[in-house]
Amino acid sequence: MTDRIVQIKRLRDRNDFATHVQSLGIATSLPIGDRAMLARPIEVHGHSLANRFAVLPMEGWDGTTDGRSTDLVRRRWERFGASGAALIWGGEAVAVRPDGRANPRQLCIGPESLADLTELRAITLDASHGEPPMIGLQLTHSGRWARPTGAFEPRIVFRHPFLDDRVGVTDDSVLTDTELDDLVGDFVRASVVARDAGFDFVDVKHCHGYLLHELLAGFARPGRYGGSLSNRLRFFDEVVAGIRRDAPELHIGMRLSAFDLAPHVAGDDGRGVPIADDYPFAFGGDGSGVGIDLSESHELADHLVAAGVELLCVTAGSPYYCPHAQRPAYFPPSDGYLPPRDPLHEVARLFDVARDLASVHPQLRIVATGASYLQEWLPDISAGLVDGGVAMIGYGRGVLSYPELPRDVVTGVDVARERLCRTFSDCTTAPRNSLVSGCYPLDDFYKQMPERRALTAAKRAAEQARGGRRS
Ligand SMILES: Cc1cc2nc3c(=O)[nH]c(=O)nc-3n(C[C@H](O)[C@H](O)[C@H](O)COP(=O)(O)O)c2cc1C
Ligand code: SF4
Repeated sequence: MTDRIVQIKRLRDRNDFATHVQSLGIATSLPIGDRAMLARPIEVHGHSLANRFAVLPMEGWDGTTDGRSTDLVRRRWERFGASGAALIWGGEAVAVRPDGRANPRQLCIGPESLADLTELRAITLDASHGEPPMIGLQLTHSGRWARPTGAFEPRIVFRHPFLDDRVGVTDDSVLTDTELDDLVGDFVRASVVARDAGFDFVDVKHCHGYLLHELLAGFARPGRYGGSLSNRLRFFDEVVAGIRRDAPELHIGMRLSAFDLAPHVAGDDGRGVPIADDYPFAFGGDGSGVGIDLSESHELADHLVAAGVELLCVTAGSPYYCPHAQRPAYFPPSDGYLPPRDPLHEVARLFDVARDLASVHPQLRIVATGASYLQEWLPDISAGLVDGGVAMIGYGRGVLSYPELPRDVVTGVDVARERLCRTFSDCTTAPRNSLVSGCYPLDDFYKQMPERRALTAAKRAAEQARGGRRS
């Protein structure tokens, strides 16, 4: 089926691209802008940022088993700094306590990690050369997807008929209100460490199916943390209050899955299909499992403004159950499915949602995501998006293959096409098979790693399971 989707690298010029997006009916969602827009400064919390690029959080499944950094982590952060992006959104997901890790090699934050985190920030700044970027740290609890020692150890907000079996949920997995109260303290203590390590802000992560994102969908959860939107935002409010009390200099951001979809699985032809058409579990969903309704996302944005939060990074869904919505790809990861439709539709939807939120909430600095799929067209379409009121463009997978793209774009250097991320998804397939993440196809460093052989075998096995369809 992917053979019928036009690969981006085959769209040779502006005419080709324009004709293609017109044929898909998404031309107005992906307008071409003037690249000079991306070199315009922007003010965030009183700091002038030199350009409109933000490096998105990208973890590597490559810390130590006690949550500390390694040479691989340090190399990645150095490349984040070398990107020339004016904002480093979060670096990577860092768990606020050991049992909240999504894998045994995820970083974990506590007083003992202060030196590591100080060093990671310094490495990023040193590599940045020109204007120092604003740097945040992403704080998380993996909730349903927690695997602190390898096996699933889910901690959840509510019982979920479509996801519980995937991770071995029992009644004991449901966090009580008192346990959530305690977890607020973990987020606040982690924020104090982030402040002491010199970070400008923390991202209180509300996306991708992890705990705080699931809290937003606790429509039917009883008690103080469920039901009304104000109850579902209680956790965030308490973390904000704690940070204002204990680390008042620290800014706060939120990475939000602004909409969610029903879990998707491979259908008969290998393409993703939703497993339900009546789906009342999606924050920002319309109940159908595939449609969106942003009314609560807008209410949440109002809430952020009232709380003095300026930074909102707009993403969607979860890599575990609807990866196509969040990281559009031509080649799916080994645990994924072929794209349900041309992935440009997913980029268009992510951009439309970012634009919509930006236009209604001009006080927020919105960072859009999902741009790596645009490849050659990333600079021009990102410029169009910024022209439409979105503050910054996030750069995720591409930073693994071609970190300096933002610097090249803002300084007018030709984009190095051979380094563009082609959405092979190896950086997702590797950790799905317990290997460290990285750009194995395009980054020489990973190309030469012995893990590449195991990755190739895993990809072949996934392809066979799909009946010969490529991943
Ligand atoms: C290997 C890999 C690691 C990621 N790690 C994180 C993470 O730590 N935190 C997070 O919020 N998102 C993470 N993401 C999602 C990205 O930040 C981003 O939202 C996604 O890749 C889409 O943006 P892009 O099209 O520029 O890649 C990760 C994605 C990949 C592929
Ligand atoms: S492995 Fe490299 S080319 Fe493939 S999606 Fe990841 S960054 Fe892009």
